[in-house]
Amino acid sequence: MAVMRAKSAIDKIRPHMIEAVGHAAAPVAIHLNSNESVYGPSPLAAAAARAAIAGIERYLENPDAALAPAIADRFGLQAARITVGQGSDDLLARLARAYLGPGTELIRSENGYLKVPNYAYANDADVISVPDDNFKPSIDHMIAAISERTRIVYLANPENPAGTYLSGAEVRRLHAAIPDDALLIIDSAYEEYVNAPDYEPAHRLVEEAKNVVMCRTLSKIFGLAGARVGWAYGPDDVIDSLRRIALTFPVASPSVAATIVALEDRGHTEFVRNATLSGRNWLSSELKGLGLDVIPSQANFVLVRFPDPEKTAEAADAALRASGIAVRRFASPAYRDCIRITIGLPDDLRACVAVISSFLNGES
Ligand SMILES: Cc1ncc(COP(=O)(O)O)c(C=O)c1O
Repeated sequence: MAVMRAKSAIDKIRPHMIEAVGHAAAPVAIHLNSNESVYGPSPLAAAAARAAIAGIERYLENPDAALAPAIADRFGLQAARITVGQGSDDLLARLARAYLGPGTELIRSENGYLKVPNYAYANDADVISVPDDNFKPSIDHMIAAISERTRIVYLANPENPAGTYLSGAEVRRLHAAIPDDALLIIDSAYEEYVNAPDYEPAHRLVEEAKNVVMCRTLSKIFGLAGARVGWAYGPDDVIDSLRRIALTFPVASPSVAATIVALEDRGHTEFVRNATLSGRNWLSSELKGLGLDVIPSQANFVLVRFPDPEKTAEAADAALRASGIAVRRFASPAYRDCIRITIGLPDDLRACVAVISSFLNGES
């Protein structure tokens, strides 16, 4: 009798995150593991979501019509070239579905955003993961990997889990080497936290080129991770393809209501940005002061390496988790010595540093 089989490449998909060993049952009091905003959304956005529950029996027919003008207004973009989805991961998955298939390739940086290969495998495409340069994507390696089978080059800028970034000039050098029949995806989930002067907002290249699409999210600085809203900005034909393969009624009505209001509340995002950047500076310098290797971050988290083989990242993770603090470790070998810490409230970061300090001093 024939047996049901999923597409063969789906078997290549593996979990990429690691749970803290031995403390799975310890209650988590401080969440520094998923790069959510510890400051939450604008209070006005939460109120709008609550009010929208009143109409929950109805489908929201066209979330693009509701949200694209608000997004365009907030960021100074063209509304017709914006489409929204269930988080930016929905758009990444749809881009893979629209442009990848058997015999095609997606190029990525090997320690870059770890969900992306899964979307390629789900379409039976090949993933070319190229080496990086101390967690910073290597433009030279990405360019060297381009072939006639390349259909997508994926770059998160800034990267996750490392927080590294590429300058505008570097991104443009990569784009110049990509053929017209391949798409450059710039995933700018953390763009709002960047303060490097040579970073270039990704929308500029989108507007100049025919094969560049940018993905953005409401999950980070806007504090709406649970609402699951993301958006893409790209050429008309790419946006058209994304719309054609969208789920029916892809975004929940309370999420749309919250997003419209969150986009308008510039004071809230300004406050979150300032608080996060000062937390990032503080945490980075404290961890360096403890003798750890901190990867310079342009995002709302910091990746830190534990260089002493006697004081491993795995043990540090367990010590934190035993104190009720959840941080993130990853399965890929490059991250064996590392933990990623989301920028939390000042007291939470102080608690986190205190646990790491006692751990390194043999007190825990
Ligand atoms: C680089 C990057 N892209 C995309 C996402 C997905 O975000 P969402 O689906 O919540 O919009 C994340 C989430 O952590 C991310 O780090």
